[in-house]
Amino acid sequence: MSYQIIDGKAISEQIKEECRKKVVAYKEKGIEITLAVIQVGADPASSVYVRNKKRACEFCGMNSLSYELPEETTQEELLTLIRKLNADDKVNGILVQLPLPKHIDEDLVIQTIDPKKDVDGFHPQSVGALCIGQPGFVSCTPAGIIELLKRSNIEIAGKECVVIGRSNIVGKPMALLLLRENGTVTVCHSRTKDLKEVTKRADILIVAIGKPKFITGDYVKEGAVVIDVGIHRNEDNKLCGDVDFESVAQKTSAITPVPGGVGPMTIAMLMHNCVESVELI
Ligand code: GUN
Repeated sequence: MSYQIIDGKAISEQIKEECRKKVVAYKEKGIEITLAVIQVGADPASSVYVRNKKRACEFCGMNSLSYELPEETTQEELLTLIRKLNADDKVNGILVQLPLPKHIDEDLVIQTIDPKKDVDGFHPQSVGALCIGQPGFVSCTPAGIIELLKRSNIEIAGKECVVIGRSNIVGKPMALLLLRENGTVTVCHSRTKDLKEVTKRADILIVAIGKPKFITGDYVKEGAVVIDVGIHRNEDNKLCGDVDFESVAQKTSAITPVPGGVGPMTIAMLMHNCVESVELI
């Protein structure tokens, strides 16, 4: 069977271009958009993400304020910085790159960000709003997956949607968003008894397990749409996802590759959230 490869890179560029145009329009009205990005410590993966986020701001014509704090930063110092940025009318969005060093309470940090500036969509108020269908910021990776599906003309309403993974950042908000789009949603996790039996029912299968090439062809129904959220480096330093692309792709009607699928969408949706933040001030 022939299948569509969902081009996350092209779709993310389209979204960033739409954001850039909106930023230009705001600038003409005298409104600038500023994202504050905070990194604590020097985790190499986090440094790459942070650099890419700042680059995306530049592309879209937004300002970015960069706070690169040492690993030894105390929780109180970080909270003080967040409170200062909350009070600064020039700052529209605040992003604290995760994970944080172990001596800092991540939940407390997230709760300290003003929900009006919570462009990551991690604040309990943002998650609660999503849960009951009120406006608020939505976590970027699951929001990006909905955009991938919509812009690839894949219908969600009435479909059997199976999400593997129940993290606060991806799995849970993903399930809520699919539900909002009128999908029939099942969430699987490490304690699911017969994973294969559940995933084989999926018309749309979202995979966020965190194990390289875990999902093989025998987990997938003929003609399903498969979205791979994983990103890993294999033995020869090549990138791969949670899905074994070679054995799965020919069974699907559409699938995201790694790299170039879900990955680029996260930053595009962050830019989208930053543009939206203007309306919330
Ligand atoms: N760490 C991994 N993904 C993310 C993300 O989307 N936002 C933040 N702030 N940290 C992350």
